[in-house]
Amino acid sequence: MIKVKKRKILLLPGDGIGPEVIAEVRKIIKWYNSKKSLDFEIDEDLVGGAAYDKHKKPITDEVFYKALESEAVILGAVGGPKWDKLDFSKKPERALLKLRKELKLFANLRPAICFKQLVDASSLKPEIVSGLDILIVRELTGGIYFGEPRGIKPSENGERKGINTHSYTSSEIIRVARVAFELAEKRNKKVTSCDKSNVMEAGLLWREEVQSLKDKEFKNVKLEHMLADNCAMQLLKNPKQFDVIVTDNLFGDILSDEAAMLTGSLGLLPSASLGAKDKNGNLRSMYEPVHGSAPDIAGKGIANPIASILSFSMALKYSLNLEKEANNLNLAVQSVLDDGLRTKDILSKGTKEVSTSQMGDAIISKLQ
Ligand code: IPM
Ligand code: MG
Repeated sequence: MIKVKKRKILLLPGDGIGPEVIAEVRKIIKWYNSKKSLDFEIDEDLVGGAAYDKHKKPITDEVFYKALESEAVILGAVGGPKWDKLDFSKKPERALLKLRKELKLFANLRPAICFKQLVDASSLKPEIVSGLDILIVRELTGGIYFGEPRGIKPSENGERKGINTHSYTSSEIIRVARVAFELAEKRNKKVTSCDKSNVMEAGLLWREEVQSLKDKEFKNVKLEHMLADNCAMQLLKNPKQFDVIVTDNLFGDILSDEAAMLTGSLGLLPSASLGAKDKNGNLRSMYEPVHGSAPDIAGKGIANPIASILSFSMALKYSLNLEKEANNLNLAVQSVLDDGLRTKDILSKGTKEVSTSQMGDAIISKLQ
């Protein structure tokens, strides 16, 4: 048996249903450790509200450095009503934004695939969504999420003024567009770039830079520009027209939730946040389900762990160079769905309801 070097994985379960769904990922990693020649070193720590409760900050320096040293970070979810009133800088979400920004994870890949077994779980007509396989590439470290100046400031007439700044540099646009084009080359060779170039200068720059990169380096990929509001509409009208969508941080946040619902449930969608490759070909990365902490169902054992498990599968593929294992894990998920096992969010007539951990166990049994 070939022993592979120990691969460091950091689990950050976070808040709400985060710990429940990440527990299933941990089970799967342990299964790989026990059964295969793979050898993962798992570390686990607090992030978000859970970290705030213990340390009065949403992420400690120690955890941040652990993330820096890991080959892949797998995060559950952060936030919840308990921490809503906190000062902005202490909110659980700040941990997520700090990790994204400081690890320089500028490209967020959010695939929306409608599994054939779940066509009926979507609120759209089956013919609209069946066979759907699109990929949203969201810019993740720029735009209005991070632009300066920002804040709530007094204005002259005694009012208060809330300020956020939307800005992008050419290089920020080009590096994320390149990721989108490279991914499209391996798929159906079509990129749709979304902006609001009709009202925003930053959107106009976005459009020009994406087009000029295509003209220079990606002649084989078809590029279409679309206004973001139109894209929101087209996603409902005819989502299968898309292959890869590339867009900024804020539009990507919104359009990816919309795309998620095409597939039936937010509980199914994984995401990968990737940085640039270093000179040895390694890249920084973080993987998280697209869904949030869902405090309303936390602690009940009914959350769907599939989004987190598929996020781990993306880690196998993009960070750990284990594409075969990633494919096997995806097939195991499919096969459990074929058997008619469903968590509550995707339950339909004729299928059997299982808990979070039963779903994890069933997926492991398919890996055997
Ligand atoms: C997401 C989430 C986050 C975001 C929140 C939790 C800060 O909605 O990952 O889509 O807005 O980016
Ligand atoms: Mg979001």
